[in-house]
Formats: sequence, structure tokens, C-alpha cells
Amino acid sequence: MDDFKNSQPSGTGCGVVDDTSSAEQTQFLSDVLDGLSGDVKHLHCKYLYDQRGSELFDQICDLDEYYPTRTESSITCQNAAEIAQCIGPNATVVEYGSGSSTKTRVLLDHLEDASAYLPVDISAEHLQRTALQLQEEYPDLDISPIVADFTQAFELPQQYDSSGVVVYFPGSTIGNLLPDDAIALLENVSQLCGPEGSLLIGFDLQKETVILERAYNDCQGVTAEFNLNLLQRINRELEGDFDLQQFAHLAMYNQSKARVEIYIESLCEQTVNIDDQEIDFESGQRILTEYSHKYTIEGFAEMASSAGLEMNRVWTDEKDYFAVMHLRAT
Ligand code: TRP
Repeated sequence: MDDFKNSQPSGTGCGVVDDTSSAEQTQFLSDVLDGLSGDVKHLHCKYLYDQRGSELFDQICDLDEYYPTRTESSITCQNAAEIAQCIGPNATVVEYGSGSSTKTRVLLDHLEDASAYLPVDISAEHLQRTALQLQEEYPDLDISPIVADFTQAFELPQQYDSSGVVVYFPGSTIGNLLPDDAIALLENVSQLCGPEGSLLIGFDLQKETVILERAYNDCQGVTAEFNLNLLQRINRELEGDFDLQQFAHLAMYNQSKARVEIYIESLCEQTVNIDDQEIDFESGQRILTEYSHKYTIEGFAEMASSAGLEMNRVWTDEKDYFAVMHLRAT
């Protein structure tokens, strides 16, 4: 993670100067203005996960329509002993994501003498909360959260030598990256875990369009709220004036690219102000907020192999909805 210490502080007059957060706000603003000023509008999906977004995402994971979390959990539970055996004893578990899931506990419960657990997440608050909670449940485990953007290369704190590292990357979050970026991330993973380390990763499999589209457009509207929360976040943090009534959530499966595409659509012609800048929208114009790529097992193994990771084992559910794969650096 970058060291923000030298970036401009903004004294608030109340004695608290939060450098990191002001640098992050500056970055957020410039990313938002960049993403919205062109004709092809987009916002980076990492910004979906502020505190409210993270809470809403936890709710999505419990929805009937959203099969990935449930399916990945059951694959992990049913094969926990085998998975733990593949990983081996004394592992340092580096989880990409905050580790709020039951899958993390299943893994930790089955590993033989895990030596440390290092959750990596961009949302410091969510990370702290889940790390504290986990520490209560695993009082003897060394738990050290790392605030970082795992789509960029980052280093582990020095005391953790890379020899027994297993990177755990559940949630099919890899699918949110474009293929080239997914390969770059996998290359970073293979660097981070070194020749003796390994990767345990969950990814979503290709399936019928209706099932996929339902998973990203639930009938309770939680996914819509999650997506539109990004506009609310811009209103809150960047003095935007998005009228939430004039935008809608949209999710569709693009079969030729094998990905669900998630957008926010403008329902009318309108102008939005963000930090004194005007952003024009045509009626029907979309902001891309996320891609969620769906893979085949062979396709994923091939992609990983081009990044220096070889498939060791793979586990799926009875319907072949989801896959959990263990890979080793080559
Ligand atoms: N990683 C999740 C996925 O691709 C993220 C996600 C689920 C998501 N539902 C969403 C992102 C709706 C944006 C909007 O499955």
C-alpha cells in the first residue's frame, strides 16, 4: 500500500488529521470525474464497498437468487479436509477480502496449525471489524489485517516470510477484473506466495443466462440498492447531487464475453454536479459499475497457467455452478 504520510493533510480544526482518508478522497474524486466525463461512463467497482456498500454486499450474499456465496461455502465445507491437506501445515493465510465469510472459518478450522491469518481489504473499517470478531473466535491465531488494494502489488509485513503463504481469494472477485487485469493479479499472487506457496481461489462458472441475471437483479432490490449506493456515496463524500430516483440498476449477461455487465442507467436527460463540475447524461445512458466474468474450469486453468500458476485440484458443486481451485506456483 502507498505511504500517504507525505500527502496533503487537511486540518479540520477538531484536532484530527486523517491523511490517508484525505488522500483517498482526492483519488476518489479524480477517479469519479475521469470515469464520468467521457462518453463511455464507468466507475471503478472497488468504490462500491464503502461501509454501507459492504453491509449491503453482505446482505446480497444471503439472498436466494445470489447462489455464488452459498455454493462456494458448501463446496468449501464438503471438501475442507482435502483442501486443508492440499495447503499443508503451518500456513500463513493471506485472504484477499475482509474475511467476513463463513468460508474463512471453515478453512481456518481445518488447516493444520495455521501460523497466521492476514486479511487484505481496501475498506479499513470493514476489515478492522471482521478482524476483531475473528480474533475473538480464534484467540491464539496471529491475525494482522492489511489495508491495501489487492488489485495492485503489495508486500506482506516483514515478519511473515513467504515460504508458507497460501493466498485465499474466495467470492469470485477475480471475475470482476478484465482478463488482462486478472492475469496481472494472478502474476502478483504467484510472486507473493513464492515457489512453495499456493493459491486457493473461488470463481463462478458459465451457466444459463436467466440464472445469472437473477443473481444480479434480486426481487427485493438489495442489489439495486448496493449498486445505487455508489451514487449516494458520491453525493455524501464528493458533494454530488445525483437524484437517485432518476437512475436505475441494470444487470445483463453478455454471452459472447461470458460476463454479467452491471450498469447504472440514467432514466432521463439530466445534468449532475460533482464538486462544481457538470456531468451530462442522456436518457438511457449508462455508467458501467462492474463486470462479473464467468469461466469454464479449463479456461480458468489456462489463464492461471499463463500467469505462472498450475492447477493442482478443483472442486465443484453438483450443478457445476461454482468452482474452488487450488494452484501452485510453477
Ligand atoms: N464479486 C461479486 C460478483 O461478481 C460482486 C457483486 C455481486 C456485484 N452482485 C453485484 C457487484 C452487483 C455489483 C453489483 O458476483
